[in-house]
Amino acid sequence: STLPWGAMAAQKLLHGEAGEQPRQKIAEVAALRAGDAKEFAYPGTHDSALLVCVREGEYKAYQNACTHLKCPVFWSKENHELLCPCHHGKFDVETGNPLAGPPRRPLPEIELAVEHGVIYAIGVKPYEA
Ligand code: FES
Repeated sequence: STLPWGAMAAQKLLHGEAGEQPRQKIAEVAALRAGDAKEFAYPGTHDSALLVCVREGEYKAYQNACTHLKCPVFWSKENHELLCPCHHGKFDVETGNPLAGPPRRPLPEIELAVEHGVIYAIGVKPYEA
């Protein structure tokens, strides 16, 4: 790895060893249309995660425990936003950043790879303050 030692140590603290971030199949491209979402479980996310087909062929995935008090965040196709029903938290589906309500931190994003018509989760992106 080319990361300085401090960054590597921080990543390990946050996400465990690299081996704990498996490549995991989460959906077939053909099964998701623009605006669709699918819940999935992924190691290191503590709770379930949410895959959203933001636009045709474009996907985003986030750990879906609200960064306020951990209520499950859901995808609102109508509003094109991730919503937390507990205290009306809202998150931007493009970035995971909070848009409204009490949450102050973004939803942790899960990195995706699309190959041969299959969407894979490949890791949790490091948090950047
Ligand atoms: Fe999500 Fe409070 S737990 S807004």
